[in-house]
Amino acid sequence: MSNLGAAKPAAATQAAASIKPATGKLGIMIPGMGAVATTLIAGVEAVRRGFAKPIGSLTQMGTIRLGKRTDANSPLIREFVPLAPLDDLVFTGWDIFGGNLYDAAKTAQVLERDQLEQIRPFLESIEPMPAAFNQHYVKRLTAKKQKTGKNKCDLANQIRNDIAEFKSKTDRQVMIWTGSTEIFLEPSAVHQSLAAFEKGLVEDDPGIAPSQLYAWAALKEGIPFINGAPNLTVDIPAMNELSRKMGAPICGKDFKTGQTMIKSVLAPAFKTRMLGVSGWYSTNILGNRDGEVLDDPESFKTKEESKLGLLEMILQPELHPDLYKDLYHKVRINYYPPRGDNKEGWDNIDIFGWLGYPMQLKVDFLCRDSILAAPLALDLCLFMDLAARTPGLRNLGIQEWLSFYFKAPDSAKGVYPEHDLFIQSMKLKNTLRHIMGEDLITHLGLDYYGE
Ligand SMILES: NC(=O)c1ccc[n+]([C@@H]2O[C@H](COP(=O)([O-])OP(=O)(O)OC[C@H]3O[C@@H](n4cnc5c(N)ncnc54)[C@H](O)[C@@H]3O)[C@@H](O)[C@H]2O)c1
Repeated sequence: MSNLGAAKPAAATQAAASIKPATGKLGIMIPGMGAVATTLIAGVEAVRRGFAKPIGSLTQMGTIRLGKRTDANSPLIREFVPLAPLDDLVFTGWDIFGGNLYDAAKTAQVLERDQLEQIRPFLESIEPMPAAFNQHYVKRLTAKKQKTGKNKCDLANQIRNDIAEFKSKTDRQVMIWTGSTEIFLEPSAVHQSLAAFEKGLVEDDPGIAPSQLYAWAALKEGIPFINGAPNLTVDIPAMNELSRKMGAPICGKDFKTGQTMIKSVLAPAFKTRMLGVSGWYSTNILGNRDGEVLDDPESFKTKEESKLGLLEMILQPELHPDLYKDLYHKVRINYYPPRGDNKEGWDNIDIFGWLGYPMQLKVDFLCRDSILAAPLALDLCLFMDLAARTPGLRNLGIQEWLSFYFKAPDSAKGVYPEHDLFIQSMKLKNTLRHIMGEDLITHLGLDYYGE
């Protein structure tokens, strides 16, 4: 249906021309090469070799409507905006476990053995570099290989050296944290400015977690940083300052994949119909390494905070006290090894309607954690690389238009993030239209019915 070949208005041509082209190799640097990362990398290779389709990826399969509904013009997103093609992606990363990515993918037990065998040499060719790790921040894991250094600044500079080495083999880079969930950290004085943070690196401030060493190193090198976990990482003024200064975009946090994705669809549905919600009980069982890490109360607290915030933000009890002021929201995650990566998430939702009559809704989502997360990680890498090439996005710091992908989206100070999946989707697509100089779509539609 695309008529992208048709003559474009001057504004669109000019806007598109200001975006640097996606030529050359895009290096993807991944701290934490476990289930999500190996599923992403193996998946990209399987798609490149024609063994499978990139299902779940908006950048690979999604379309975007341009102009009026009657124009019938809905190109593929990857043909509309200049994204790196999958053939140009090169991967590297860090982990605390020895072995190559074939071993890591086998351990993760997400993809079937036959599928892994098809791409075995490729996976065997990637071996994670030793990590900057500290067990204080992820209690349930013990490192087999890790960097040593005299302080956090030294470790972060070693990561910068790794980046410099990778830069010599690739043309552009992005970094995405798919490492474990770290313990819950509140923002403190060391996070408030870049100067305080850099002093804290030298002084080994306990407020600085390993994920922040990678983020600082990436941003210092002018590389965009994505946070797929619920950790504080770049959601602090110091990182925002560095990101804006370097023109290296940031976004996070916590991939919105399963239960929370469904929550961010159902809650807006109740609210838009002015239905009340008195209780929302969410529980999960999962048995992968992520589940094991989350079995530690300090890591669970980080995840819990990330999962709890959105209902209040979507339902706005302060505007609708009759409907939501007494809402009881509970989230549980239980480590249950037999299920591995195949998580089961139950929701019991107590709602009420006309005259206060109660009703219930039950959701039982038998999902696959990393199968849902991998396409989001891919999209984020490609869109963040686009942001870094786009005037008007590059120096914004937080890329709020990518909140579509996150459970607890980072946002500017004083601005609450949008959580409704469809508002987030509209925001993302309008941002793409905006940077390409196309008309935004407001869904007003009155002109179809004019005289
Ligand atoms: N659907 C999903 O799978 C999903 C959704 C949202 C968020 N997440 C988050 O994504 C992250 C990855 O999930 P996963 O299932 O791949 O977990 P995983 O345990 O399989 O992989 C995480 C890897 O990070 C490594 N790691 C920990 N600390 C590190 C450090 N300092 N440096 C380098 N490596 C380090 C671990 O050794 C492990 O191999 C977790 O934080 C998880 O909460 C996953």
